[in-house]
Amino acid sequence: MQLFLKPASQSANDYCMTPKPLISPSILSADFAQLGAEIAAIDVAGADWIHVDVMDGHFVPNLTLGPPIIKALRGHSSKPFDVHLMIDPVDPFIAAYADAGADIITIHAEAGQHVHRSLQLIRSLGKKAGIALNPGTPAKMIEYLIDQVDLILVMTVNPGFGGQSFIDGQLGKIAAVRRMIDKSGRHIHLQVDGGVNVETAPQVIAAGADVMVAGTACFRGGPAEYAANIAALKNLG
Ligand code: DX5
Ligand code: ZN
Repeated sequence: MQLFLKPASQSANDYCMTPKPLISPSILSADFAQLGAEIAAIDVAGADWIHVDVMDGHFVPNLTLGPPIIKALRGHSSKPFDVHLMIDPVDPFIAAYADAGADIITIHAEAGQHVHRSLQLIRSLGKKAGIALNPGTPAKMIEYLIDQVDLILVMTVNPGFGGQSFIDGQLGKIAAVRRMIDKSGRHIHLQVDGGVNVETAPQVIAAGADVMVAGTACFRGGPAEYAANIAALKNLG
């Protein structure tokens, strides 16, 4: 499984063009009564990764799904499972999400006192490690974690629900994180999550993101629309 993939639409002839952003549809907006079929459909429609939102009713005011469901869904797509853990504590559950089939495990900088240790744990299990920042958390929070991460996620809504409005004030943070990544010289994805749609995506890309999570914007209109929804987000910027 290729994790840090070039979009399939890019050929050797257009290597000099700006790469298209990766799209990670959030299954929070899928039809939960048929999640397996929904994941297969969004995969075929051009999703680069599959974004799985895990909520515990404590770190965020909502509950979603746990490792057994991810394990059951794993066989429905060969794309990387991009698992966003909105849970606190997180350490006791990381191994279970790794075993269930997560490829990228993103934890929150605000969840737990020892995020450095949590990131090391994720990598020790052979998974890519991500760190997420809530809207109220400054970029400098991750200054001394940058050598421990493969992905930085800037939240552009307060986590807990799909379908919220994009918080414009986070664009400056996306740009600041882009500068931190470039300065580090490391290959780290900059992901943005929350309220991403065809109106907000160009600003997100201009600020420096290379991976966009989108729930509402990818799953709107049902399976017949998924390919067009993803293409519309990819071809902006
Ligand atoms: C919010 C989740 C997001 C959310 C995105 O807590 O982390 O992934 O589902 O949904 P939209 O794209 O609808 O804002
Ligand atoms: Zn998410």
